[in-house]
Amino acid sequence: MDSEELQYELFQPKIHPLKLFDIAKSQNRLLYACAPMVRYSKLAFRQTVHRFGTDLCWTPMILAKEFNRNQFARDSDLTVSSSTAQQQQEVPTIAQFGANVPLELERAASLAAPFVNGVDLNCGCPQSWACAEVLGAALMERRELVRDMVVATRGRLARDGWAVDLGHPSGIESEGLGRSVSVKIRVHKDLRKTMDFITTVIGDEHRRNIDWLTIHPRTRNTPSSTPINLEALEILTSTFGPKLPILVSGDVFTLSTLPYTSHLLIPQPTFTITSDTTSTTSSNTTTASSPQRNLHLPHLSGLMSARALLANPALFAGHDTCPWSAVDVFMNAVARAPLPLKLGIHHLTEMCGPGFGPDRGAALLAKKERIKLAEMGNWVDVVDFMDEARRGSDGRGGVVRFV
Ligand SMILES: Cc1cc2nc3c(=O)[nH]c(=O)nc-3n(C[C@H](O)[C@H](O)[C@H](O)COP(=O)(O)O)c2cc1C
Repeated sequence: MDSEELQYELFQPKIHPLKLFDIAKSQNRLLYACAPMVRYSKLAFRQTVHRFGTDLCWTPMILAKEFNRNQFARDSDLTVSSSTAQQQQEVPTIAQFGANVPLELERAASLAAPFVNGVDLNCGCPQSWACAEVLGAALMERRELVRDMVVATRGRLARDGWAVDLGHPSGIESEGLGRSVSVKIRVHKDLRKTMDFITTVIGDEHRRNIDWLTIHPRTRNTPSSTPINLEALEILTSTFGPKLPILVSGDVFTLSTLPYTSHLLIPQPTFTITSDTTSTTSSNTTTASSPQRNLHLPHLSGLMSARALLANPALFAGHDTCPWSAVDVFMNAVARAPLPLKLGIHHLTEMCGPGFGPDRGAALLAKKERIKLAEMGNWVDVVDFMDEARRGSDGRGGVVRFV
């Protein structure tokens, strides 16, 4: 493909993510999203989860400052599929940025816009290096700055021709040139601060600064082994959910074991709630922070999964454990959109491990086999090993098929 053809392919109109929220709703279900995961939510993985029903996929957090200044950073941090000849469908993709200066975020958004469906600002990363640089969760203390960043980004995208007229739903569809702006947040210990933050950032009904909000209902100091704060989620979705779509990130382990219900969740999850707040994420029992009742969230619009999707890319297709077919699709995607060997192997050991579903005996590979896999030194050995393991496991003479 010459460079002119490549440009043409890349500038194809893209569906606006708000349209995906509408489609999910019209199908009586929540929108399904793959979380941003540093190292892991790269192209091959995004293509895999998309094949199994994930509607919208985030890139890992990209540092806007580096992205703006360095071609190598752009090439390595944002990889999209450039060929429509592939069997892979285009994956609706959100580029997530780490930024703390309006000009940096708007420039990064401008550079990424031709290749993605929208841009997102990370206000949730709790790592000390990020917070020390006033990135990620540190931004939860800087609501005016966050507002200024999204307003500047909206304005820049509009000037570049990627505007969407949110006042007119048909505008979302018009020519497929609109790009979304969104924010992913954590909550504060004092929820009133989170309410103030959201109120400042989203703008008013005449001028929404962001298209939707992703809430990870943990504070920056809450470990991921502590269940999400359901009370905070209920208050925030009921207050802001009528104004804009809200995605929840955190403890989406399987569709059948969520600690809340929604009219958009059919079948309704089976509750196996305990009051054990010390349980870890590897527990096979869904643990909720408010075990007294079945929480109903009528204003929740979507589910975002990170760790459980890593272990089971077919989660949103309704599988409680990772099927071999997901391994097939992943290996096929890696052949076309390569990953470093150790990273690819890490994905495979996650997919072939016990995962987060209720049946933890259902791992595709025994622990001994996963250890052996982790020691492999090249892809040929990995493919042979997986082929052998699968043949042994299902007795159907199956191989890791390249589809
Ligand atoms: C390996 C890993 C990398 C992550 N990287 C990011 C990131 O780049 N940006 C972000 O906003 N959150 C990041 N997160 C947080 C997740 O997106 C998500 O909010 C959190 O893990 C809770 O979801 P879960 O319970 O489904 O894992 C990361 C999480 C993990 C496990």
